[in-house]
Amino acid sequence: MNDDFRMDLTRLGDREGLPDALRVLLGDYPRESWATDPGFDGLVRFWLDRHLMFRRLLDRITSETEARLDGKTDPMLYKAHVSKLGSMLVGELHGHHNIEDMHYFPVLAAKDSRIARGFEILDHDHHALDGILDRYVKAANAAIKADPQATGEIGTFLDETGTLRRLLSRHLIDEEELVVPVILKHGTGGLG
Ligand SMILES: [Fe+2]
Ligand SMILES: [Fe+2]
Repeated sequence: MNDDFRMDLTRLGDREGLPDALRVLLGDYPRESWATDPGFDGLVRFWLDRHLMFRRLLDRITSETEARLDGKTDPMLYKAHVSKLGSMLVGELHGHHNIEDMHYFPVLAAKDSRIARGFEILDHDHHALDGILDRYVKAANAAIKADPQATGEIGTFLDETGTLRRLLSRHLIDEEELVVPVILKHGTGGLG
């Protein structure tokens, strides 16, 4: 067995990327070539745009929370924004993970057996992220309910946002480097 497979790749927090054996298609389809590939428009572009939306929502929640801690924004306006952006982020992420686990991953894993194990890792990430998201929602609710002048709950929420951002970023990068090459090589057949 390859050394890479002896590492506990399912530990999202410790992972530094997928092993070379699972990046086998990336050599022929490097990230910088994706946007000009004939197979990019349509499903791949749509799906990468979802990831971009998650990253932007987390960037915005982070900057608004930092501004609130610096006293640069109105407390009530901040709470309204966190409530709206946080609900959108968590709801959309749960739906996105569900579709990937139930529909995308089984179809993509069957397209190339060399990388099938990668989809088990990504599925495992989603379950790990469920726990992180539960904690995130609790921290967001505490920040929303806190006294308008209190900063402790908002500081905790900023920390939780940083944790989610770091773990989700690892997951999204690994997922993109597994999913995009296999679709560009084998097409979108079966994905509907
Ligand atoms: Fe995912
Ligand atoms: Fe995804």
